[in-house]
Amino acid sequence: MTTVNVELGARRYPIVIGAGWHERLGELLAPHFPPRPCTVVTNAEIARLWGDGVLASLAVAGYRPDLCIIPDGETHKTIETVTAIHDHMLAARHTRQSGVVALGGGIVGDIAGFAAATLLRGVAFIQLPTTLLAMVDSSVGGKTGVNHAVGKNLIGAFWQPQFVGAELEFLSSLPEAELRSGLAEVIKHGVILDAAFFEFLERDIELAVARDAEVLTHCVRRSCELKAQVVAADERELSGLRAVLNFGHTFGHAAESLGGYAAIRHGEGVAMGMVAAAQLAANRGLCGAELPERIAMLCRRAGLPTQLLKYSAEDYWRKMGSDKKVKDGRIHFVLPTRMGEVQLVNDVTRDEADAVLATCMEQ
Ligand SMILES: NC(=O)c1ccc[n+]([C@@H]2O[C@H](COP(=O)([O-])OP(=O)(O)OC[C@H]3O[C@@H](n4cnc5c(N)ncnc54)[C@H](O)[C@@H]3O)[C@@H](O)[C@H]2O)c1
Ligand SMILES: [Zn+2]
Repeated sequence: MTTVNVELGARRYPIVIGAGWHERLGELLAPHFPPRPCTVVTNAEIARLWGDGVLASLAVAGYRPDLCIIPDGETHKTIETVTAIHDHMLAARHTRQSGVVALGGGIVGDIAGFAAATLLRGVAFIQLPTTLLAMVDSSVGGKTGVNHAVGKNLIGAFWQPQFVGAELEFLSSLPEAELRSGLAEVIKHGVILDAAFFEFLERDIELAVARDAEVLTHCVRRSCELKAQVVAADERELSGLRAVLNFGHTFGHAAESLGGYAAIRHGEGVAMGMVAAAQLAANRGLCGAELPERIAMLCRRAGLPTQLLKYSAEDYWRKMGSDKKVKDGRIHFVLPTRMGEVQLVNDVTRDEADAVLATCMEQ
């Protein structure tokens, strides 16, 4: 078992990473959130698989956990589901000393985190991610929130957890497509910040797909270390440092959104988006022509799609321009300059985007 700390001064918290430790959850959590009443938020399927073990481990250590089941799926990542959690917790007479434990993927984590941030002006929040994507990305960094009819993740708050526990054993029941989707964010961390980590993935990606415990543990640990450094340096995405994590997300979000969030998973959009952004960088001469090919090759080996969904260039440009990350009317792109290094640019022209779409979109 290893621990990575997110250094945020008084709000510093640990990410505990390992396989087969969740029966000791209560004991490990106690120094960060002393035994108290708390609500475990999860969905029916994850409750069936892992709920009893988590509740028992909390109860043994003196916590008084109750269970709040929310519906599965992105369509339920709404303010109504947040209200349902509030209703449950207020009916159970929870106080400001209580906590919210999110047991699930990024969807459960984002919703439960926002419920924790807003109940009684904020209660303690604990993340127990059960998808690879949540372990390497969404459970770390404090972004919580839900979707609005106008767009994804438009209602939310920065609300840091007090403890993140990545139990690799939870991944044993994860559908393969979800595991692959999480690998896209792992690959992203290598491209933006760590060439040696990317090379590790080039050696061992098949082992990661096969859920080799050692390889997956390294994927989670290194991703958390890299994301923790970025979050500690720019917690609220103010200086631009945190924006590097958006690599692949400009084209990727547009593809996800054009597909109505039903055609592809988040990580699949990120894989397509990374290849497109790297191609844009290569077309500009910012990086060599081999970089987009290396990224595409690794994504293909991870079983991820590398060509953008087919929509018109007009659709893509419009979607990219309506993203919440647009500033002063300019679309921001994160472009690689070489493996492990990226640069933020805000002067990409429509012609450049069209040229990328012409070569990086499925035919
Ligand atoms: N807050 C952030 O910083 C951040 C970052 C990236 C993504 N996100 C958000 O995360 C969400 C996507 O999260 P996700 O990819 O984890 O998907 P998800 O939460 O929808 O989980 C995927 C599916 O796997 C199931 N599942 C989860 N764990 C399982 C397990 N161990 N065994 C069996 N089934 C399991 C879920 O019930 C669900 O059906 C999106 O809403 C996205 O916006 C947030
Ligand atoms: Zn992402």
